Amino acid sequence: MMNTKKFYITTPIYYPNAKPHVGTLYPTVIADTIARWQKLMGKNVFFLTGLDEHGQKIQDAANATGMAPKTYVDGIAPSYTNLWERYNIAYSRFLRTSDADHERGVVAWIEQMIKQGDIYKSTYIGYYCTPDETFDTVNTETAKDEKGNYLCPECNRPLRELEEESYFFRLSAYQDQLLKFYEEHPDFVTPKERLNEVLSFVKGGLKDVSISRKTVSWGIPFPGDPTHTVYVWADALNNYLTGIGYGQKEADKLAQFAYWWPADVQVIGKEIARFHAIYWPAFLMAANLALPKKLLVHGWILASGKKMSKSLGNVIDPEQLATWYGVDAVRYYLLRQMPINQDGSFELKDLEDRINGDLANNLGNLLSRISTLALANGLATVPSPTQLESATSIALKERCEETFRLYLDEMNKYSLHTALSCLWKFISEVNAYVQTQKPWELAKTNKDLFAEVIASTCNCLHAIGVMLWPVMPHKMELMLKAIGQTVDTTTNYEQSLRANRWNTTFSITKLEQPLFLRPETHVTPAETPSAFAPTELRRDVAASTAGAVPNQSTAAESNEIAIEDFAKVELIVGTVEQCEPVPNSEKLLKLQVDFGPLGKRQILSGVAQLFKPEDLIGKQGVFVTNLKPRKMMGLMSHGMMLFADNQVVCPRNAAQNGARVK
Ligand code: MSP
Repeated sequence: MMNTKKFYITTPIYYPNAKPHVGTLYPTVIADTIARWQKLMGKNVFFLTGLDEHGQKIQDAANATGMAPKTYVDGIAPSYTNLWERYNIAYSRFLRTSDADHERGVVAWIEQMIKQGDIYKSTYIGYYCTPDETFDTVNTETAKDEKGNYLCPECNRPLRELEEESYFFRLSAYQDQLLKFYEEHPDFVTPKERLNEVLSFVKGGLKDVSISRKTVSWGIPFPGDPTHTVYVWADALNNYLTGIGYGQKEADKLAQFAYWWPADVQVIGKEIARFHAIYWPAFLMAANLALPKKLLVHGWILASGKKMSKSLGNVIDPEQLATWYGVDAVRYYLLRQMPINQDGSFELKDLEDRINGDLANNLGNLLSRISTLALANGLATVPSPTQLESATSIALKERCEETFRLYLDEMNKYSLHTALSCLWKFISEVNAYVQTQKPWELAKTNKDLFAEVIASTCNCLHAIGVMLWPVMPHKMELMLKAIGQTVDTTTNYEQSLRANRWNTTFSITKLEQPLFLRPETHVTPAETPSAFAPTELRRDVAASTAGAVPNQSTAAESNEIAIEDFAKVELIVGTVEQCEPVPNSEKLLKLQVDFGPLGKRQILSGVAQLFKPEDLIGKQGVFVTNLKPRKMMGLMSHGMMLFADNQVVCPRNAAQNGARVK
């Protein structure tokens, strides 16, 4: 029987070959918000996330550091759990694919496949993309790099040729069953366009897929043949099952699995839709298990116009964002700014605008206005009136109920940005209500109506606080506390918000500080040297250019430049974290540079004949960070390292990474 009380949600599991960045925070915040919302709607929720630790990519990354793979991933795993804790990610389990129960579950699944004849041994001849861990086929349309290597159609990085003994899963046998499933479940994938892509791929004919690797040792030994390991995607996809007890012997684990499976929503990025919409359902069909109810496919967070990713060197560090702007403002921005089904650019200026406008002006001010007015007029305890007198208050109450219904509708469709935009429409209306009712005048002329306006606004803030709690849990708890309320996850808020009774008595306390602190005011875009730099840095540039009157004629006569020309150059201190030669280049070194609060970047430098990589690793230097990105030997460079007389230009004493040279 279908259990409608439970809600099981998952994120993809992340490759721990780098610390999390804003692009990996994004799906985690989406899933956490949906999980919290479902709790408020009275569901029992299980929220699974974790790490995809096995496979070639991690093995190579560990080898490059000289560490054993397990030691390597053990070192990176806390950067995920710590960040999730900081961002209030309330997961039920953090699974690592090196966990013993997960490994047992994967083995149980493969043994069953072998028994029923879904697996056979053959040889894989084709291509492999290590960064994506995908087996790829090429054709006449596949792009090549300048050296003639085929490029991965997904990530555009060179493919490796591979000829290797492998165990295959009979995916082709599931083609018809898959097509029938898509037809019967048109809502399986959101947004629908993603399902169309999947459909045409499947209709094009499915080939059997490799599910083992003979040349990769960092993985789960293949049952019955320990000379192979389980292919990392076959291993990883199973986490959605093993995370809730699949393949275990204990009765309680099996009961747990029976209770939670199938997943209600699986949040995934668009580039892994094929794995989740084709291979994953076929694996489940083969294991005789129900299929997930929904794949929620989100777009990419872009930085400098490209998918934010470590390999492109354009990642933004969520820890720094949390320090500058606060966790909840970042959570809100991610969900509000980018339509979930599209790509969206991450811009600090937009984030600051959202904090100033939506959060500080519209919501924070509403709370502080009402609490100041109430306390200044002796109304620390605000009972809701049994009957509203003013027609405007009655209309506001109706809008409050309607907003909940609209919000619920959008949240049920997982359209978080439209849910938030309809909530902000309501917040503006509450502000307009306060503005037109003029409670500061009513306090002197009509005490009863004054109390009604304060109570009505508090009722609205109460509903807003509950609806927004999944997005900004900490700030909404503070807001609700300021009117004497809490969020109680054992309450079924679907019933109470729908009933919209407005019978609560509020107790107002003085706010120690505004609910949302404003970031520094930004300078105009024309003065902005780079979207990469936070307000302070951009302001530095504006300040140093202000008041400078260039003497144009003299400048034209010599090679002098005016101060505002110099101010255009961003000279920033950074530390070289990684450095390696660029294959087939005698001159270039590829650097990963840490600019502290400004994030990390990939920078190419033509000094391979002067320095060995180990000479530069750990070195602090000065970099030009607003040079137009350049492609060299197929790799992007996002800046330039400065040298003088064959030496690195650097501050005399260690400086803060991210500091500006002025
Ligand atoms: N390990 C696989 C997933 C296995 S799930 C059984 C993987 N890992 S990943 O670390 O590369 O990516 C994990 C998720 O993060 C993906 O859904 C991906 O879309 C998401 N993101 C990583 N960078 C992103 C952006 N710049 N923007 C939005 N999401 C992105 O794939």
